[in-house]
Amino acid sequence: MKRIEDINLNNKKVIIRVDYNVPMDKDLNITDDNRIKESLKTINYCLDKNCKIILLSHLGKVKTEDDLKTKSLKPVSIRLSELLKKEVTFIPETRGELVNNTIKNMKEQDIVMLENTRFEDLNGKLESGCDEELSKYWASLGDVFINDAFGTCHRSHASNVGISKFIKESCLGFLVLKEIDNLYPLINNPNKPYTVILGGSKISDKIGVLENLKDKADYILIGGAMAYTFLKAKGDNIGKSLYEEESIDFAKNILNSTNNIILPIDHIVSSDIDNDNYQVKDKIDIDDIALDIGPKTIELYRSYLEKSKTIFWNGPMGYYENKTYQKGTEEICKIISNLDCISVVGGGDSASAVINLGYKEKFTHVSTGGGASLELIEGKNLPGINI
Ligand code: 3PG
Repeated sequence: MKRIEDINLNNKKVIIRVDYNVPMDKDLNITDDNRIKESLKTINYCLDKNCKIILLSHLGKVKTEDDLKTKSLKPVSIRLSELLKKEVTFIPETRGELVNNTIKNMKEQDIVMLENTRFEDLNGKLESGCDEELSKYWASLGDVFINDAFGTCHRSHASNVGISKFIKESCLGFLVLKEIDNLYPLINNPNKPYTVILGGSKISDKIGVLENLKDKADYILIGGAMAYTFLKAKGDNIGKSLYEEESIDFAKNILNSTNNIILPIDHIVSSDIDNDNYQVKDKIDIDDIALDIGPKTIELYRSYLEKSKTIFWNGPMGYYENKTYQKGTEEICKIISNLDCISVVGGGDSASAVINLGYKEKFTHVSTGGGASLELIEGKNLPGINI
């Protein structure tokens, strides 16, 4: 794996694989442009080297003709152009004459963006299946390939891994390198004490992370709905709280094999997830749904966080989608933002929470990768990194 600074990029035609799989509302407005902002460093570096820049990205999953209407990258190209204060030419095709001619006529420092690479999935999953012909075609468009799409590094697709096999030179861009620099220390020699905070709804999404970190972390603080699978596994009454029946045995086994898993000791409960009337309880009653960690739990978790030298956090502490149940997540943000330690947030919902609540700059690193950051922390090799 080469780093971007290891390659002579002067006046080259570079293909940059970015991850512009950004959330959009129903009117196709981008609701979080963090991934676009984080990609600017590599693009600006290539502009300084007088490169011609060809951008490739996917957006969502493309399964039906209808997806072609809602999953175009055009709105993303407009946002990128605003952020760069520079024209970005959007090509509404993924291959063919228009693509070839536009690229042939590019001048130094021109930027073009092709249409969503997953539009190629409608014709037999050519992008996701890492089709050789498609990989060769995209590789033929440039001199150098830069993978800067960390969020997609756990996938082996034509536009990230496929291209790298058929182009003369490939390297990793600054966004991916920053992710590697911040995430690898969490599984290799973290500064101790090391605290991991895991939340979100499902234990099943975090089994690999729990397995890999249970002996490395000093404390594992649990929040979100996954806490209720653990509490049920312990025999506590969890009322009508969300839990995963299929993960109860895993939860029992891990609770028996380690004593560093810390569970909530009080809860914000309500009778319905859309009901804003709540109570704070130490013990959950039969009709209660637990929707956030309570104040005693926040103080308990503070006591672990304040003695930590490294913190890794993945998953919100409560039913974050409803403002009433954001307090646990926000208090954890506040606590961490006042600490002098290494603090890393995995991508996905917890990263969005940290960014939307305004705490991004207070953390050492907020990952742009959801599944990719989890797989890296699980200790898996990511194909997009080994190009
Ligand atoms: C993500 O948002 O996690 C990445 O862009 C990968 O998307 P995918 O899960 O659809 O492959």
